[in-house]
Amino acid sequence: MWAHKGGRAMNIRETPDLALPGPSSLVLAIIGAILAALVSKIVFREILRGRKQIRLPPGPPGEFLLGHYRTAPKDGAFKQYAKWAKEYKSDVLFFETFGTRWIVLNSLKSAVELLEKRGSIYADRPRFVMFEEMGWSPTLTWLRWGPKYHLHRRVLQPPFVKSKVAQYAAMQRREALVCCKGMLDDPLKWVTSVRRFSVAVVLGIAYGLDVDGHSSPWIKLAEDSAEAVGKSGPPGSSIMDLWPSTRYLPEWLPFMERLRYAHTWRSAIQRITKLPFKASVRKMQNATPDRDVFVHNRLAIHAENTQKGLPNDFNIEDIKGAAATILIAGNDTTAATVTLLTLYLMQNPAVQRKAQDEIDRVVGRDRLPSWDDIPQLQYARLVLHETYRMNPLSPLGIPHASVADDVYDGMLIPKGTVVYPNVWAMMHDEAVYARPFCFWPERYLSVEEGGNGEPLPVGNFGFGRRICIGRSLAENSLLIVLATMLATVEIQFPPGPDGKPAAFEPEWSFRGQAIVLPFKTSISSRTDKARELLDAELCALDKDAVTG
Ligand code: HEM
Repeated sequence: MWAHKGGRAMNIRETPDLALPGPSSLVLAIIGAILAALVSKIVFREILRGRKQIRLPPGPPGEFLLGHYRTAPKDGAFKQYAKWAKEYKSDVLFFETFGTRWIVLNSLKSAVELLEKRGSIYADRPRFVMFEEMGWSPTLTWLRWGPKYHLHRRVLQPPFVKSKVAQYAAMQRREALVCCKGMLDDPLKWVTSVRRFSVAVVLGIAYGLDVDGHSSPWIKLAEDSAEAVGKSGPPGSSIMDLWPSTRYLPEWLPFMERLRYAHTWRSAIQRITKLPFKASVRKMQNATPDRDVFVHNRLAIHAENTQKGLPNDFNIEDIKGAAATILIAGNDTTAATVTLLTLYLMQNPAVQRKAQDEIDRVVGRDRLPSWDDIPQLQYARLVLHETYRMNPLSPLGIPHASVADDVYDGMLIPKGTVVYPNVWAMMHDEAVYARPFCFWPERYLSVEEGGNGEPLPVGNFGFGRRICIGRSLAENSLLIVLATMLATVEIQFPPGPDGKPAAFEPEWSFRGQAIVLPFKTSISSRTDKARELLDAELCALDKDAVTG
């Protein structure tokens, strides 16, 4: 039953439990699942009947038994949700299938109100059954709200807070130089240079390992895991997430393609959890552990506790899972954003020119950008924000889940509802962003400065208590690599038959993350001196490293 207090609904009756039965026969699994869906539906209707005055958020009608299973779009769902929000004149939409309920927040106002201001209610995650099938170790991103989650966040967050990420700045700048040198040395393999850059930063931080060259096994490993996650569909949306017993169905059934996908990529997830960890332990055994390296630090704490006979709440599996979280969450997101930057600079030569002019003004042509220059590169920063807005990597965010009943704008949001922030809809809202499909970094400048005074996009890194822990690190990586790219490389469409740059639209994948697929681009040295400066700086850095 629902009772009101201070405008909020308080739950007295529990919503149905979605917990998974133990392994059972196929028939039992199917019967159990159907019964669970029916019971859940009946209990839910009863609850609503009890409090008719609180309506659920609107949404398209569901089907008998299946609910919205077939209605909810599988690919590019964010666009359809944005359309429905207009059609149903509601920024919050409601869906339900097999006892799982979800809402989609299509406005920044609703996301801030629910996920931030009422953050304590919406900090849970749904259970990601498909990811369990993929064989993840404990991973902060997927952990449910509770003691284990708090432990992982408490351990993982400190090295990545804004005041601490400066410790990685020198390494990030070096990797940015290596990335641009790689782009110039082998322009056809520019995607590998980008991947190398993003892997090197987080592999060093998490494991203290180096990426040696383009053919490093760590790059392949990171690519595989990125593929595994990036194309697995919106998190929490597979039939197994909606109806957990279906994980026991044979994977050859036509509608079990997400189970087939999970099993195909299982080994990639296991490899990325185990192999760098093993290599890090080996390195630690052969040299003095580096306490700034996440795995070394945690293993040293573990060993100290064991020696003193103290309990270890963060066990070896936790360390493995947390280190893999840094590598997986940190590498693909950064690589995908650098790839987008490359795309938008290629597609918008005037923007590229203006950003390069800014580099020439602030840095000049006789040296390469340093960290001291970054605060002055205002236009480059806007290019990055416009990149976030044009294509948020997780257009539907990573879903949160509610731990108590709530009422928003007169609409009931029952406990246990999965919540997707439609970041893409927020960032393409015509009421906020003029010509939202145009790449126009100036839009954020004031009208006096020639802009449109539009707000910087919010939501690319999530919301509330689950907000991305790596955002300051990522932002630094992106700014230093962008500045170095602007100083050293010229990005153009590859030449067409007439020798002039020939425009094209690359292919995209909207399965889960919104990713631009590798595309051809023409990369050349921006100035005669660029290559020389890159070589000289890298040589000096290597000398410094040797002399200590
Ligand atoms: C451009 C780069 C990045 C983007 C766009 C990005 C985006 C996101 C998003 C959308 C979330 C979900 C937040 C929510 O649930 O509300 C998230 C969570 C997370 N990110 Fe990032 N991220 C980036 C880089 C990184 C890096 C470099 C790290 C590594 C330290 C990282 C680690 C995490 C972790 C551990 C979580 C889970 C937080 C939790 O559930 O409590 N991310 N990120």
